[in-house]
Amino acid sequence: MLRNDQLDQWDHDHFFHPSTHLAQFARGELKNRIVTGGEGVHVTDREGNRLLDGFAGLYCVNIGYGRQEVAEAIAAQAKELAYYHSYVGHGTEASVTLAKMVIDRAPKNMSRVYFGLSGSDANETNVKLIWYYNNILGRPEKKKIISRWRGYHGSGLMTGSLTGLELFHKKFDLPLSQVLHTEAPYYFRRQDRSMSEADFVAHCASELEALIEREGADTIAAFIGEPVLGTGGIVPPPAGYWAAIQAVLKKHDILLVADEVVTGFGRLGTMMGSTHYGIEPDIITIAKGLTSAYAPLSGSIISKNVWKVLEQGTDEFGAIGHGWTYSAHPIGAAAGVANLKLIDDLGLVKNAGETGAYLNAGMRDALGSHPNVGDIRGEGMLCAVEFVEDRDNRTFFDASKKVGPSVAAALLERGVIARAMPQGDILGFAPPLCLTRQEADTIVSATAEAVRQVLG
Ligand SMILES: Cc1ncc(COP(=O)(O)O)c(C=O)c1O
Repeated sequence: MLRNDQLDQWDHDHFFHPSTHLAQFARGELKNRIVTGGEGVHVTDREGNRLLDGFAGLYCVNIGYGRQEVAEAIAAQAKELAYYHSYVGHGTEASVTLAKMVIDRAPKNMSRVYFGLSGSDANETNVKLIWYYNNILGRPEKKKIISRWRGYHGSGLMTGSLTGLELFHKKFDLPLSQVLHTEAPYYFRRQDRSMSEADFVAHCASELEALIEREGADTIAAFIGEPVLGTGGIVPPPAGYWAAIQAVLKKHDILLVADEVVTGFGRLGTMMGSTHYGIEPDIITIAKGLTSAYAPLSGSIISKNVWKVLEQGTDEFGAIGHGWTYSAHPIGAAAGVANLKLIDDLGLVKNAGETGAYLNAGMRDALGSHPNVGDIRGEGMLCAVEFVEDRDNRTFFDASKKVGPSVAAALLERGVIARAMPQGDILGFAPPLCLTRQEADTIVSATAEAVRQVLG
């Protein structure tokens, strides 16, 4: 393609970048990057840089870049039938096939899949269905949703409320009143450092129970959580956490939504995060890995129990008043079918477990004794390095020092993309699931150099 010399100017003048410091971008303090290509775990940009993408875009390109099988499936679907809706019993071969493939990969008690376009809209769907469910069951007061501090569930009105990160609430008049937050299962940041992991799990469960009792169980509809906290810091739960939380929810007849937008389809080294941790959800949110982001598609997987009530509701009140023009879009569905097939054919779930463990072990070897590294943690193809000012006293750097972003920038100079997580000095890695050991070594050695450059 002929090079367009005005593109940077157009970007500066007209493009609204999400999750970006708009004023710094406008002043030119934040440089743009226009990405032009991708192959395997690498992307290339307009300046000719080739970068190892250690975050798979936004932890979504599970199969890696440039997979022709998925591109061809998208093209074939576009040529044959670019669009048809799925209202009033309609569908396409791709959307129905994908629903079957998803249910085959989900925990046993799952029944139906509603397809949306993003993780945010899928969680928005979930909340509506939960409210509908309780209305049909004659429990109009049972509506509040409990999420966790540091949870990430999207950035819409309801989903931005569920998200437990300051930046997503501040100045947006969020969270909405129907949302409550409870303790994050973040053992490294526990307030009382004398607590053992088991004590901390008991503490999380009792905090949840106290919140439920304060509000009244008859006002709480659901609890939503990611199997592994993602954007809030890449934090695997302490052992026994999910069993303890589920016991509290069951006792109070509260639905459980497992937000598997990141953990779904292989990232933890198992097909779904719910099975990885023995979680038995009523609803599962999926997106990202469903198509490896080759086309926008998300889903709400609905359990048999919830589905029965939804059916009952339509017998009483007519067709369900929920749906979008682009629900189950056939191009997204075709991408999903080809993507899930490729995940199986390439053995990517197994590789995520094995190479992910290798990456985590390498990171611990290289940086485990650095005085400013407080914690190195991960699960499957997820890894995080958390920086501290003082390791013995576990004191954190002031956010204004921008330690996390500085290390990410130093890493980028070495050709590796990591993500400076938005709250705390935490460097996050979530590479494509096809990462090789050699590529893992590159990430580890570049990270060790970057940390030494910034922190000595
Ligand atoms: C766990 C989780 N849920 C929901 C979302 C929102 O998805 P989207 O950005 O597609 O709206 C994300 C995005 O990162 C996520 O990590």
